Amino acid sequence: MKNPIHPAAASSQAFQIAEIRPIERLFEDDEGRDRLEKALSRYPEKRAALLPMLGYAQERNGWVSDESMEQIAGALDLTPAYVRSVATFYTMYNKHPVGRHFIQVCTCISCHLHEADEVFERFLAETGTRAGEVSEDGKYTVIEAECLGACGFATAVQVNDRYFENVTPDQIPAILDELD
Ligand code: FES
Repeated sequence: MKNPIHPAAASSQAFQIAEIRPIERLFEDDEGRDRLEKALSRYPEKRAALLPMLGYAQERNGWVSDESMEQIAGALDLTPAYVRSVATFYTMYNKHPVGRHFIQVCTCISCHLHEADEVFERFLAETGTRAGEVSEDGKYTVIEAECLGACGFATAVQVNDRYFENVTPDQIPAILDELD
């Protein structure tokens, strides 16, 4: 059976914690083999498919686990250490489980001047989490983010692949309602 990809899934998405949904093996079904084959067909060397395969692991499992890194290493004839060195270089690959809604609040200067700290704190309060923690129901993780490139629309918030701009603290309950 084709493995369902969560609606929130995309290159930087995370959606389940391991306790709720076990980590799926990447290349043991048609979908995984197809993704690997397509990535390999684009490059002259196997190792060039590493970033797309890390992205696929995150899309499928919500984060890039040690097990996923080992599976990718095997598929691309690399060492797990090499795969790990690349995965850990990029902050957008989640190396820990995160909630289904991965909320990144920009607290850089433009947003900082427009209530970013209050927005961040309100997200934590409304989701009942501490920074970087997965909520008990597996729905949310809230983190501070570096500039999201929407400085003219402070405060900027990214939830999975979706941007929210000009966010103020009192909008947060409605944003969370919309996500559910
Ligand atoms: Fe917040 Fe750039 S400073 S998006």
